Amino acid sequence: MSESTRTERSRVLVTGAKGFIGAWVVKNLIERGDEPWIFDVDERAHRLAALVSREALERVHHLRGDVRQKEEVDRAIGEHGITHIIHLAALQVPACASDPVLGAEVNVMGTLNVFEAARRHKDTVRSVVYASSVAVYGPEELYEGVPGEDAPLHPRTHYGVFKQCNEGSASVYAESWGLSLCGLRPWAVYGVGRDQGLTSQPTQAIKALVLARPSTIHFIGALDLQYANDVARIFLKCAEASLPGARAYSLRGAVVRVEDFIALLENIRPGAAQLVRAEGKPLPFPPELDDSALVRDLGQVPRTSLESGVRETLGIYERLHTEGRLDSDQL
Ligand SMILES: NC(=O)c1ccc[n+]([C@@H]2O[C@H](COP(=O)([O-])OP(=O)(O)OC[C@H]3O[C@@H](n4cnc5c(N)ncnc54)[C@H](O)[C@@H]3O)[C@@H](O)[C@H]2O)c1
Repeated sequence: MSESTRTERSRVLVTGAKGFIGAWVVKNLIERGDEPWIFDVDERAHRLAALVSREALERVHHLRGDVRQKEEVDRAIGEHGITHIIHLAALQVPACASDPVLGAEVNVMGTLNVFEAARRHKDTVRSVVYASSVAVYGPEELYEGVPGEDAPLHPRTHYGVFKQCNEGSASVYAESWGLSLCGLRPWAVYGVGRDQGLTSQPTQAIKALVLARPSTIHFIGALDLQYANDVARIFLKCAEASLPGARAYSLRGAVVRVEDFIALLENIRPGAAQLVRAEGKPLPFPPELDDSALVRDLGQVPRTSLESGVRETLGIYERLHTEGRLDSDQL
């Protein structure tokens, strides 16, 4: 899609846009001249405000809504002639563990409401890209080598089971109604705005460094850290590609052991190794995934090096701190 065609004709709705990845998606949309519709239950816009100027935020269409409410989702998509949906609204692993019923209402029923609205408005909606997760896989020992998209799924958390269910529902909708539904399976996304969820601690450690405070990462072993700006761009690229059928792609960033991450922080900010510690068990997911299917179908995908992503994150947090806007509540 050319730049002019895209900006003239596409109308993007982002659910969960006030969350971490959502804020980066909205930032990218604004920077390319779009005026997206953002749909979120949260009244606050603190993550967006950290990344986007007040004037730019005024060009965004704010819709307060709950994905659990079918009519609200349907209205948001139908009334505004939405052409592309990026569905990010969800509860994270800890919230789904502590209240699985609420988790299913938001993560499963909420996603069905989005797919259902896309079906009802399929004359206008060209694609839905929704967030799945690495959590659809089981622990590393269940796989031989690096699992691909077609590897068997053995989620061990309610959250992972809900994401797997969404992938299954997407296949049924695509087959029955010819919709374009693309699931993306991020691993641990990091960057400004990551303040909740199982893998938020590497980002929290970067933020704590700016305040010279100690922090603990409550897991050890290897993980794949993916920079938020890259992930946001991949969501947008998938939405524009409107690939036919239902697909679920793994994402890949920088696969690193937690101790090497701390060593990188020390390298960038001497003294960091004294402040950041890691303890606990490895996370119950395969540490690396293969994103060759995504690259095959989408072409080149953005890959910011871990060092550049960490430096950029530190830089933004430092600017916010200087401006007296660094939120340290979650630390
Ligand atoms: N951050 C990661 O590392 C990661 C990894 C894998 C998958 N994901 C998935 O990516 C998506 C975005 O993750 P994130 O880190 O930005 O999460 P986040 O928790 O920062 O943001 C989620 C957003 O969804 C909104 N929301 C929650 N319930 C809602 C409801 N009922 N109706 C409308 N909005 C609601 C919240 O207000 C919030 O703004 C999620 O689906 C998540 O499961 C994230």
